[in-house]
Amino acid sequence: MATMHEIYRRHRVEYDRLIAAEDHLRNLPALLHRIADWRGRRVVEAGTGTGRVTELYAEAASHVVCFEREAHMLDAARVKLSAHSHKIEYRLGDNLDLPALPEMADIFIEGWSWGHSIVEGSGSVEAIARRLFANARQNLGGGGTAILIETLGTNQDHPKAPHPRLEEFYDRLQATHRLRQEIVRTDYLFPSAQDAAETLGFFFGEPMRQAVLEKGSPAIPEWTGVWHGPLS
Ligand SMILES: C[S@@+](CC[C@H](N)C(=O)[O-])C[C@H]1O[C@@H](n2cnc3c(N)ncnc32)[C@H](O)[C@@H]1O
Repeated sequence: MATMHEIYRRHRVEYDRLIAAEDHLRNLPALLHRIADWRGRRVVEAGTGTGRVTELYAEAASHVVCFEREAHMLDAARVKLSAHSHKIEYRLGDNLDLPALPEMADIFIEGWSWGHSIVEGSGSVEAIARRLFANARQNLGGGGTAILIETLGTNQDHPKAPHPRLEEFYDRLQATHRLRQEIVRTDYLFPSAQDAAETLGFFFGEPMRQAVLEKGSPAIPEWTGVWHGPLS
């Protein structure tokens, strides 16, 4: 079974198969356009992946800088977002070590990427969160908005951070960084129950494959948290 790192280095096609089934009710784009006005905005995105979040706002934005650690993922984003290539810059960059850009952004956004830095990092959650925020802050102008999208669980009946380090991180987003939390359903709908088990199992591992097989449904619930506001 591929690790997450291997998926992002070599398996973008399988990754895109997973996210093609996600949020079939399109709740996330509705929320993103309710909490921010993207028209004419300069945006910096971290952990862009294959460009799924970027695609939700790129048309309205005036300029976008897409950072991502894996060239393999970013190459797919270039193709997916080719209609907007005149206004998107693609840069390799780690969430914890982004360069300071010459121009400040109006919006900083990341989707399901900072959580990796928190779970995989060897330091305390507090220390990693501080570094993530410092990296975002250096590229976000005063009055700018940060939008952080992270998981609150897949194949669960209620929203809940799926890892203790994420739970601590999400608490900090609200208590220390004063971001507002929204919770949105981003349920999957696959062509079949078997397909749901194989695709979710490939990404999340064997216990998820088994659990989804037992459920026997092509529709799998998922909860997503969106934290937003000025950076403090
Ligand atoms: C779950 S995917 C999300 C991708 C995209 N934001 C989306 O919504 O589909 C996580 C992405 O974060 C990237 N990533 C993981 N750790 C990273 C880090 N420390 N710095 C930059 N990108 C990272 C991975 O390569 C992967 O593309």
